[in-house]
Amino acid sequence: MNDIEQHIKALRQRIEKHNHAYYVLDLPSISDAEYDQLMQELLNLEKQYPQYIDPLSPTQRVGGIALDSFKKITHQRMMLSLANAFSEDDLKAFDQRIKNILKSDRPLEYMCEMKIDGLAISLEYRQGRFQYGATRGDGTTGEDVSQNILTIASIPSVVKETQTFEVRGEVFMHRQTLIDLNLKRLEQGEPFLANARNAAAGSLRQLDPQIAKERKLDAYFYYWVNSKDFNFTKHSQALDQLDTLGFKTNHERKVVLGIDAVISYVKAYETLRKTLPYDTDGIVIKVNDLTLHETLGYTAKTPRWAIAYKFPPDLVETMLEDVIFTVGRTGKITPNAVLTPTRVSGSLISRATLHNEDFILDKDLHFHDTVIIRKAGEVIPEVVSVNVNKRQPSALPVKMIQHCPECHSLLIKVDAMHYCKNDDCPAKHEENLIHFVSKDAMDITGLGESIVRLLFKEGLVRSISDFYRLKEQRETLLTLEGFAEKSVDQLLASIETSKSQSLERLIFGLGIKDIGQKTAKSLAKYYRDMDRLMSASEEDLLSIDDIGPVATQSLRQFFSQKKVILMIEALKSHGLNMEYQGRKAVAMSSPFYQKRIVITGSFQDFGRDSLTSMLEDLGAKVSSSVSKTTDMVIYGAQAGSKYDKAIQLGVKTIDETQLLELLKGEKV
Ligand code: IVH
Repeated sequence: MNDIEQHIKALRQRIEKHNHAYYVLDLPSISDAEYDQLMQELLNLEKQYPQYIDPLSPTQRVGGIALDSFKKITHQRMMLSLANAFSEDDLKAFDQRIKNILKSDRPLEYMCEMKIDGLAISLEYRQGRFQYGATRGDGTTGEDVSQNILTIASIPSVVKETQTFEVRGEVFMHRQTLIDLNLKRLEQGEPFLANARNAAAGSLRQLDPQIAKERKLDAYFYYWVNSKDFNFTKHSQALDQLDTLGFKTNHERKVVLGIDAVISYVKAYETLRKTLPYDTDGIVIKVNDLTLHETLGYTAKTPRWAIAYKFPPDLVETMLEDVIFTVGRTGKITPNAVLTPTRVSGSLISRATLHNEDFILDKDLHFHDTVIIRKAGEVIPEVVSVNVNKRQPSALPVKMIQHCPECHSLLIKVDAMHYCKNDDCPAKHEENLIHFVSKDAMDITGLGESIVRLLFKEGLVRSISDFYRLKEQRETLLTLEGFAEKSVDQLLASIETSKSQSLERLIFGLGIKDIGQKTAKSLAKYYRDMDRLMSASEEDLLSIDDIGPVATQSLRQFFSQKKVILMIEALKSHGLNMEYQGRKAVAMSSPFYQKRIVITGSFQDFGRDSLTSMLEDLGAKVSSSVSKTTDMVIYGAQAGSKYDKAIQLGVKTIDETQLLELLKGEKV
């Protein structure tokens, strides 16, 4: 290494050290001016000697160019979530379960950590250098958000550890950062971000790293994935080592002995957490002894050696200003409370569901009542009770409406619910359009609820097939608020892509009454193309396993309508896929044909769901529990008790390599 290169490296190290002091330790070690000077010197040198540029240099961490989409990353080890505990009893039961498995009554050492409300990431380092950072995704595959991760100033890009390691943590936004960001958005006329968690998630998934950087995210690390390779015996040791390497770990943590000490810790933090500068939704409790983690193992989705205690939801008083009624896709009318906006569990709440007429009567709701509301996690906020003492004597009771708020037709009451039965009600059409493009249906990226509402309001989309005519309206789209060349092109491109979406998604997307995702899949598999489904007889429909008389009626009714037939014709002419893309016929020669198979653990090359449907296409019956009649257990990483049971019962087991071998002869 020559002098220049050496000098550049030393300069980078100096800057990294100051970054660490500032962003991780919160102890600035240099003035801003001096820091800027060092950065400038490094920038100049890198410009002069481009051969020594390093993508991980502090100068490069301002973020590169915007991406079109994120690459997918399959996690080497699945990213699990945690089981929840809501009470002392749940915590005691967790402790007891562990003692039962360990066949010991000795008090256990537990690590208590804050459960920060952000989103999980996993980072890999090789030869002391950051390799990639991924989101959790569905646990098996996440998205490569490396560029955005590197804009988080507290995350080290180079570390003094040459052996490969993977660490997991939580990216989050400080409460004050969210307030500042929302103030800025208010000035610029942009909508508020509801809470720190959504803000963090939205920021980390920005395709433009510049924007991610402006959002000032932070991250705490709480899990060393391959701790075995490093001979740590305690989880607390791994966390201390993360500290040493320059990662930010949350010092609001404590190792305690026995579950009673855990309970005291948890109780103390129910109040203390309000003083922390970030939102927490609970405490994570982990068995500290790493050797026990292996013995305890994993259930399908969660480790048995950890649990998340969730703080009780906040109850907040606010005022019921008004009640508005919304019409759902099926015509169901929901009363919604319009509330004086108030913060509950980190979110700004201005609406809450009132479910139905019975709920209103039961609570004896009056206009301008003081109501107590709560929001638990991701659940829709709801009104818990009314503070009757604060009611004005002149207050009028809230009444259910008798006519549809959109089309004014008379509502019909079925059980506790009111329905608008008018097939031409515009509100139903609008909800149907939202359903069609939604994640579980056609999954058209860029067509969120608010955009569909806007397109509907502008008269650009009235029926499903109109989405596929939007490309003729490019100029009009460009005049809409929030649309620019790039976003319009992206939107039109994702609409085009959706044409090849699977038949089952299309059937589900049509929004046929009583036809959920699962039924849509059975129909697609059975009929294999839209025409055959449309002309299916009642008798034929009833003969399918998952289809009962109610669904049969709904299908017959739906496909008998002239406008539906015309709409499907229009979709066909736009080139939408109308055929089932699974295998046409099941080969009896397949080693999976009519075999009872159980899948356990996580796999490098497959998601669990896709592996299941692939095997089903090959004629297998995939079930969830192992018994004597099971023909084969396919196991991946972190396989749990199902694998043990297979061994016990002498059932054949194969791993992913053997699976790939068997699949070689198959057309999948
Ligand atoms: S441990 C196998 N520790 O909570 C290890 N998770 O509900 C799994 N979280 O997906 C994670 N703070 O996003 C762990 N100190 C902490 C955490 C934490 C927040 C999140 C994480 C996880 C979710 C599970």
